[in-house]
Amino acid sequence: MAPVTSIQDLRAIAKRKVPRAIFHYADRGSYDEATLRANKADLAAIGLRQRVMIDVSERSTATTLIGEKVALPLAIAPTGLTGLFHGDGEIHGCRAAQAAGIPFTLSTMSICSIEDVAGAVDKPFWFQLYVMRDRKFSESLIERAKAAKCSALVLTLDLQIQGQRHMDIKNGLSVPPRLTLANALDIATKPHWIASVLMGKRHSFGNLAVRKESDSLSTLSQWIAGQFDPSLSWKDVEWVRSLWPGKLILKGVLDVEDAKIAAATGVDAIVVSNHGGRQLDGAISSIKALPRIVDAIGGGTSEVWFDGGVQSGQDILKARALGARGCMMGKAFLWSLAAGGQAGVAKAIEIMRRELDVSMALTGTKDIEQVDRSVLEL
Ligand SMILES: Cc1cc2nc3c(=O)[nH]c(=O)nc-3n(C[C@H](O)[C@H](O)[C@H](O)COP(=O)(O)O)c2cc1C
Repeated sequence: MAPVTSIQDLRAIAKRKVPRAIFHYADRGSYDEATLRANKADLAAIGLRQRVMIDVSERSTATTLIGEKVALPLAIAPTGLTGLFHGDGEIHGCRAAQAAGIPFTLSTMSICSIEDVAGAVDKPFWFQLYVMRDRKFSESLIERAKAAKCSALVLTLDLQIQGQRHMDIKNGLSVPPRLTLANALDIATKPHWIASVLMGKRHSFGNLAVRKESDSLSTLSQWIAGQFDPSLSWKDVEWVRSLWPGKLILKGVLDVEDAKIAAATGVDAIVVSNHGGRQLDGAISSIKALPRIVDAIGGGTSEVWFDGGVQSGQDILKARALGARGCMMGKAFLWSLAAGGQAGVAKAIEIMRRELDVSMALTGTKDIEQVDRSVLEL
């Protein structure tokens, strides 16, 4: 088999290994997928400035994100249903991230619970919170993240209501996976996934399983569907702030006005994001939004971060040049997890670290801390 040299290679392997419904769940976006495409296209359209004859023999991609030392400015984004891409996927992802020196974020909608992951790793990880209609339940999730010694809470703002992904409906994506004839025929061709996920012990939302209603999975699914709360407002951010004294990151800001309000809350970081093109189709790409937001709130107390289309070290370099302190990767993480579990994720991080390192060198940059807009061909 040809060697794996890029994130796209990992995507191709993932496509072969996991059922179609699971692959599409990660790969596709909402409605016409214009924002999904723009995330990648706008990143690709940014040029880097080639510089020569600068001594770049000593280089460093190491930096800090909200005060934590990291090997490169990258974190694993929270992704729901991660454990359906590989058995115990959240544990594999967290272990790979921690070994590589980058943060891992566990989604509220994960398959492994907060406690499952905390019991399987040595270092703290981050927990992503969806504030649900059932505020008591949200509060209990915050308490559980505290008990698990999570070192940051990532509060997602851009899912008050869910954007529709056509493919998920057409594929009948459900939790636990529903066995229609078409699904069964497809799954039969994925022996690795059967052994890893279907024969594994976790198939449902780990963090929600402690609820009483979880005795019946269909009741649990109904409960979740009704839990996204269109009435969320900035008051809820204050409420979360009052319950979580630790590091707080707000994820899902795309507009300058929202960014100013978010920054005024004094949080540790704000992630410029359109949820990977899975929510408002027609929203601008996150890389287009990034410099506007950096110009408006950069240099303040909140770090500005970025996600949406990050699939190479060059992408990280471009985002950092436009003022992002850190990047998150969603799809690239899930593809690599599906392709090879912990080793697959380790491979993805190493591919991106090397690409970042080489691209920095070819732009004449020795230290990630020196990267600014001057490395770009604007
Ligand atoms: C399959 C999938 C599931 C996701 N689930 C969540 C989630 O549970 N919580 C959340 O805040 N963001 C979620 N996201 C959004 C990611 O955290 C991130 O914002 C996005 O994936 C970044 O874009 P990228 O996939 O192009 O890297 C999800 C993304 C994907 C692809």
